[in-house]
Amino acid sequence: MNPKKSLQNLAKQAIKGKRVFLRADLNVPIQRGVIKDDERIIASLPTIQYLTSCGAKVILSSHLGRPHGQVVEALRLNPIAERLSSYLKIPIQKADSCVGPEIEEKVSQLKEGDVLLLENIRFYSEESENDPEFAKKLADLADIYVQDAFGTSHRNHASTAGIAHYLPAYAGLLMMKELDCFDSLLTQPKHPFVAIIGGAKISTKIGVIKKLLPIVDVVIIGGAMAFTFLKAKGYEIGKSLVDNDKLEEARDILNAVDKARVRFILPLDQVVVPSFDQADDKQIVDITQISADKMGVDIGPKTVKEIGHALTGAKTIFWNGPMGAFEVDAYSYGTVQVAKLLAKSDSITVVGGGDSISAIKLSKLEDQMTHLSTGGGASLAILSGQSLPGIAILEEK
Ligand code: 3PG
Repeated sequence: MNPKKSLQNLAKQAIKGKRVFLRADLNVPIQRGVIKDDERIIASLPTIQYLTSCGAKVILSSHLGRPHGQVVEALRLNPIAERLSSYLKIPIQKADSCVGPEIEEKVSQLKEGDVLLLENIRFYSEESENDPEFAKKLADLADIYVQDAFGTSHRNHASTAGIAHYLPAYAGLLMMKELDCFDSLLTQPKHPFVAIIGGAKISTKIGVIKKLLPIVDVVIIGGAMAFTFLKAKGYEIGKSLVDNDKLEEARDILNAVDKARVRFILPLDQVVVPSFDQADDKQIVDITQISADKMGVDIGPKTVKEIGHALTGAKTIFWNGPMGAFEVDAYSYGTVQVAKLLAKSDSITVVGGGDSISAIKLSKLEDQMTHLSTGGGASLAILSGQSLPGIAILEEK
């Protein structure tokens, strides 16, 4: 059972009239002022609504992008304020800063049920430095801290962790949903449990693969990271992306797989091209037939079929990372097919990571999944058994 205290563990009367600093992850893709995907905004609504309905004065905070302590006009939170306002059907006051007399004044004017959205918290370098004085200034604005930014909970920042040194800290509703989901994956998964791990870089996935080995029955590897395993096994991988520094660790994992008696599925075939931008020359070849002048960019139909077999009868499936260079249409087949296989499955399906979720949305299969996590890096960190700073600070039941 996830041991953290939710804001619902607080009596509604203890929230009424209180100033609540709510850290959300409203980091959504925005192009030329237009929000391209508002899933994280939608996912944050229940906590905001709960707080406003209890009569809290909500001071809402988020980062957007990585402005590295500078004010970047394109990364102001104004479009997010508008979108929140239209979903919540209340005016959202948007501030142009996060601390200082102007903010203190705005906070003092808040009435019960009001929401004040602070500016992009990463415009302050003190945020990523987890500067204690900055954290204290944020804390001084409020009476209670609510952490709902699961997607940023692996960051040890002032608004995600430092602030909780000065305020009682509770999990928001989205945070609780994420924690409950990952807690049950780690502690009581239904078997057979299949983990599908893809993406380009093996370095970001090694921890999670190791942690999952004792609890899963099958691991399926896709994406460019598969080539590091294939090379470690002695296969010719041509010009495919490989992480030569991680060959030893890949060998260690392959040895651990044998000991753990886990089925470890690597690609059986590949879509290969002479170079990344020569999609017109793509061919499908057996994994033993990648020539020195070709690179693999996606899994082929044989691998998709094998994954289909491995998923048959699965009771739990966790998926993170694309099967190929999914951002290029010509190389998106494998990733889209995996999304479809998950949708067809009766098992518990949990998906984390931007590209895997995009593939699911592209095929309009969101409703067929048990849980789409709002955290990519955070979901991997939690499954790797790491203590996440933004979660460690939450009060326990
Ligand atoms: C994310 O998009 O994964 C989160 O919002 C965290 O963002 P970050 O990787 O810039 O810390």
